[in-house]
Amino acid sequence: MTSPTISQTVTDVRRFPADFLWGSATAAYQIEGAVAEDGRTVSIWDTFTRVPGAILNGDTGDIACDHYHRMPADVALMKEIGLSSYRFSTAWPRICPDGGPVNRKGLDFYSRLTDELLAAGITPWVTLYHWDLPQTLEDAGGWTERDTALRFVDYALATYDALGDRIDHWTTHNEPWCSAFMGYSNGGHAPGRQEGVAGIVAAHHLMLGHGLVVEELRSRGATAANGKSLGITLNLTVADPFDPARPADVDAARRLDGLHNRVFLDPLLRGTYADDLHADTAGLTFQGRPWEDRVLDGDLEIIAQPLDVLGVNFYHDDVPAARPYDAAPADLLGSRLVGPERSRQTPYPGSDFVFPRTGRPTNDRDWEITPASLTRLLQRLHDDYAAPPIYITENGAMSFDVVEDGAVHDVARREFIEAHLHAVLDAIDAGVDVRGYFVWSLLDNFEWSYGYAHRFGIVHVDFDTQNRTLKDSALWFKQVAAGNALPL
Ligand code: NOJ
Repeated sequence: MTSPTISQTVTDVRRFPADFLWGSATAAYQIEGAVAEDGRTVSIWDTFTRVPGAILNGDTGDIACDHYHRMPADVALMKEIGLSSYRFSTAWPRICPDGGPVNRKGLDFYSRLTDELLAAGITPWVTLYHWDLPQTLEDAGGWTERDTALRFVDYALATYDALGDRIDHWTTHNEPWCSAFMGYSNGGHAPGRQEGVAGIVAAHHLMLGHGLVVEELRSRGATAANGKSLGITLNLTVADPFDPARPADVDAARRLDGLHNRVFLDPLLRGTYADDLHADTAGLTFQGRPWEDRVLDGDLEIIAQPLDVLGVNFYHDDVPAARPYDAAPADLLGSRLVGPERSRQTPYPGSDFVFPRTGRPTNDRDWEITPASLTRLLQRLHDDYAAPPIYITENGAMSFDVVEDGAVHDVARREFIEAHLHAVLDAIDAGVDVRGYFVWSLLDNFEWSYGYAHRFGIVHVDFDTQNRTLKDSALWFKQVAAGNALPL
């Protein structure tokens, strides 16, 4: 017996707004492979994956999902799942190798991908920076140097000039928090630098690059009136104190909010950095100077230009306890899985927290499952920041999936996505303008410092054969997208 479909049997459904976008997301380094083809040069992730101990099992993105060679078949999979949009990133080291002049062959790949998507009726949604900085630019200081923001503009304009005739949705950065603080403060991500407040310096230059690109694209006619939408994707959290009666924990939650959310939201949506962020980082220096030295006159105006959309990536909330906190390692989140040791350094300059278990269920990544916090986050963006229309540009769950008789019964992922879609609907019901949802990810892929062990796809990838298998979550997502509704 085949299982009933939503449209056949279920009358009680929660509907999404008309034109709600149903998508999935990927990133270049995580899926493409072909790292030395058609003129692509080395990125910071090619370098970082060679650092002993940086990546679980010593994995690299050299082959990944071999998407560079299998792109048409992967687009066919998207069509089969019924996606209305596909969010992908372009690789800077393909398009501007070594951060230099344009490489036509690198652009061609994305041009073919765009055509393939459009032919399949799938709206392309492009992200310009999903973490693969050309190594040459890192050698010159990377995101701690202002010049990197200027080079980013060159690359972004080359990409827009080639694809802007066919792509309407443009995202500057994906999760600049990770680029800045995982890359330059905690070193768990490329380029692996552990230089404290360098993370904020990098964050400012990432934001500057964002603003400069928006400015240039607007002047090239990329406006809403012309059907173009410009935005940025942030990984935002909700921070609550572990013990609300302990002042140090209340302070930890405030600090975490400052160094994770407001360090981006305030410059982008209010044109300022908050006083408590300055206070929390006072006395910290990078190369002998405070981070504020890099904020030049006019920068905040450039960063705060109006956006058409805000992308939100959400996986879990955070409930920090201030140190000293007396707990056995097993009582702390993240201690169950042996990840690369360097990921455990604090990414919050001047602050250090631990994350005790709160007792809520976790997924295989040992992340607590916290859908109600997504609703709170969306409401906050609406109430406190009058945010532009929001798209959930990533949400999904890791599980150690296996193929059994040609199927993958990833019940936990399906339940995770369903709970978060309800959370999105709760926010919409409360008046928040949310216009789409992209599941992370289309394919199991190179999960950064966790390599291929950590699977996020709704499509299973056998990394020995490159066989793709639709997981149960993909089949379920297909029905939800087709019905534009959740069954009750
Ligand atoms: C967010 C990142 O954008 C993506 O690259 C990553 O794979 C997922 N989180 C899961 O960790």
